[in-house]
Amino acid sequence: MNSRKVIAIDGYASTGKSTLAKMLSRHYHLPFIDSGALYRGVTLFALEKGFLKDNELDQKAFNGALKGLSLRLEPDTGDLYLNGENVSQKIRLPQVSDHVSTIAALSVVREFLLLQQRQMAHENGLVMDGRDIGTVVFPNADHKFFFTARPEVRAQRRYEELKAQGQETTFEEVLNNLIHRDQTDSSREVAPLRKADDAIEIDTSEVTTNQVFAHLIEKIDAK
Ligand code: CDP
Repeated sequence: MNSRKVIAIDGYASTGKSTLAKMLSRHYHLPFIDSGALYRGVTLFALEKGFLKDNELDQKAFNGALKGLSLRLEPDTGDLYLNGENVSQKIRLPQVSDHVSTIAALSVVREFLLLQQRQMAHENGLVMDGRDIGTVVFPNADHKFFFTARPEVRAQRRYEELKAQGQETTFEEVLNNLIHRDQTDSSREVAPLRKADDAIEIDTSEVTTNQVFAHLIEKIDAK
């Protein structure tokens, strides 16, 4: 019934976008694409190849190497493969979170990933979450949502997630990273984070995941 439907979920860091996108993907039998994983993959590549050192990017070498970079998202598991290696764990490391917004602001990176993202929707439609899905990647998406939540609530959620994975971090570090990324993502020149005019805004601060899910399917089914 929902074949070829494109559902775009954008919003601030750690507002529950991916969790809800996965739930919608199961409900509507649509593939789920976490576009942030792709930006994290490119960032990991820049760090591992030594193009990004001490916050300095060797832009010329990086631009040249980008052509040789292959990213593949496994549709069933959501695992990300970088030149054949499963990097799903590595892309969540704090070092990647600290640099991803800098890499995501580069137009060469956004162009590189834009085409790949559009191709993913080609056959069956999808649910994709990110920062510019409803504004740039799929401006004609059938459904658009924009997630917000208070920074402290978001930082607490992300902190608990990282702790559960055994990562060493503090609440303050997580909060600072979220605030910094939100600022960089919102103020960049290319495809900044902003709500599409026709997106429905969802504040997830005081509601459960199931409540948000119920609200989203109500909106989608009513349209
Ligand atoms: O999961 P979380 O909300 O922390 O972030 P993410 O979705 O993994 O995205 C990581 C970073 O990638 C963001 O902070 C943005 O800098 C960048 N990104 C972007 O620029 N455009 C997208 N469509 C998705 C992510």
